[in-house]
Amino acid sequence: MRRAFVHGLMATAMVFSAASAAFAAAPSTMPANKTAAQDDWWKHAVIYELYPRSFADSNNDGIGDLKGITNHLGYLADLGVDAIWMTPMFPSPQVDFGYDVADYDNVDPQFGTIADADALIAKGKGQNVKIILDFVINHSSDKHAWFQQSKSSKTNPYRDFYIWRDGKNGGPPNNWTSLFGGSAWEKDPTTGQYYYHFFYAQQPDLNWRNPALEKAMFDQAEWWLKRGVYGYRLDAVGTMFEREDLKDNPPAPGTDAFGLPEQNRINNTEQPEMHTELQKLRQNVIDKYPGRILIGETYVSTAPELTKFYGAKNDELQLPMYLSLIGLKPITAADLRPRIEAVESNPVGGWPCFALNNHDQRRSTSRYDLPAGTTGDDMARIMAAMILTLRGTPILYYGEELGMLNNDPKRVEDVQDIIGKKGWPKEKGRDGERTPMQWDASVNAGFNTGAKPWLPIGPDYQTRNVAAERADPNSVLNYYRTLIAERRTNPALAGDMTMVDRSNPNVLSYVRTGGGKKLLTVLNFGGTASDLTLAQLGGGKIGRVIVQNRTTVTANGLHLAPLGAIVAEIN
Ligand code: NOJ
Ligand code: CA
Repeated sequence: MRRAFVHGLMATAMVFSAASAAFAAAPSTMPANKTAAQDDWWKHAVIYELYPRSFADSNNDGIGDLKGITNHLGYLADLGVDAIWMTPMFPSPQVDFGYDVADYDNVDPQFGTIADADALIAKGKGQNVKIILDFVINHSSDKHAWFQQSKSSKTNPYRDFYIWRDGKNGGPPNNWTSLFGGSAWEKDPTTGQYYYHFFYAQQPDLNWRNPALEKAMFDQAEWWLKRGVYGYRLDAVGTMFEREDLKDNPPAPGTDAFGLPEQNRINNTEQPEMHTELQKLRQNVIDKYPGRILIGETYVSTAPELTKFYGAKNDELQLPMYLSLIGLKPITAADLRPRIEAVESNPVGGWPCFALNNHDQRRSTSRYDLPAGTTGDDMARIMAAMILTLRGTPILYYGEELGMLNNDPKRVEDVQDIIGKKGWPKEKGRDGERTPMQWDASVNAGFNTGAKPWLPIGPDYQTRNVAAERADPNSVLNYYRTLIAERRTNPALAGDMTMVDRSNPNVLSYVRTGGGKKLLTVLNFGGTASDLTLAQLGGGKIGRVIVQNRTTVTANGLHLAPLGAIVAEIN
């Protein structure tokens, strides 16, 4: 999973620097998204992933909460966010910070109450910000009532809600290892059998081969849809099923961060049965409610593998996230182009969905080696220019719009994420990408005014924060706002996409066309400057420039310094 603009004529005379990054003025108020009420709203949306623990702490206990989110809906609307995907806020022992759910239809007291969730959904509706929840389908917490029943005896009616097997040769039933370290099997003393867990031992896998479990899970999903949520991001989809005969996994080269030999997880991930199950979830639950969607945490290596998640008849997930761009290191135009095109042209006509950041991955501003003379802000801008102009739905991660950096723990004693404690120093865990949202220059960056935040505030918060960046026309935040406003108003960004200058190994360029308009995006991921002619970029003349960074419009075309980016109309 882990580690795994100014008019062209005037512009010719200008020398651009990082300080003069944004060109079309950022909008003072975000234009409305005219498609918000359509059933296919999600095709025209900007979705924003938000980690409730880290977004805003309304009661000053150091942990973000639902009221904190509700208090900041105005900010999200002003940014042009159409929907938030909120990572789990259900009751949980928090071993995996909410991804160990103890009760699917409730709210953890540290995040608030059902009434707080209802208020968030209702106020979101008023501000045109839809709420999407995280549905952890692969496993529950070991403290879930189902598991407590299940482990109590071999004959308990909940026994088969989970995956129990006898050991073999004095050890676990097979060689499968947990992604989070050690064997994927835990022996339970009550019955002497082992239960299976792909993640932590406190996250026993649910048995989707059991119709009673399937019904119970579908009921949970419907419970929140009835309360007004717009759908789910499905956690760890590829781990939903495993081979029933428990065939051992073949070895793979190397050792994992926790000291065990790597293995190729062909027998406990990506099993074909999951597609039938996802179709059922879509038809029997989601499609009963208009405009509701399923997003997938679909880590796959190739576009054909991703296509499977749309379903053969485009009847599974509307938005399987394409996450493979995250893993490119270094990130090059030559690698990006075929990957994006393959997702774009999937044979079932599925709608593309891209994410460049999330709560499990180093932030893109800190992920790559930066070319000499560039900063994380330049990386933030080139990434924004890409994800907000590709054809498809972008999923942003809180703080991405500020250019927030990873704030990694320096000492193992400070680590909160258990995989970081277990895997230090090879695996430092995911704390660095989860530090509190930076709202203003006050103590604790406006996250709260009370107890020490659960993770340290980034050291740059006095200048990198919402208040400062909203007021600065050249900030990363206003770069995002300018591009999002363009998405909402320029039909080219709802239209077709064609790659141009296709053999260029360093510069990724494409043209969006729709409603009689043409928009050109040019992104220099190379380590050296590039000069490109307009003929090379598909012809025409540079018109209104939407955003531009480290780029000069020249007499014949464009000059892009490393990490240079431009989005401009073509006349
Ligand atoms: C994927 C989630 O994004 C991650 O944070 C979590 O640890 C695992 N699934 C297990 O639920
Ligand atoms: Ca709180």
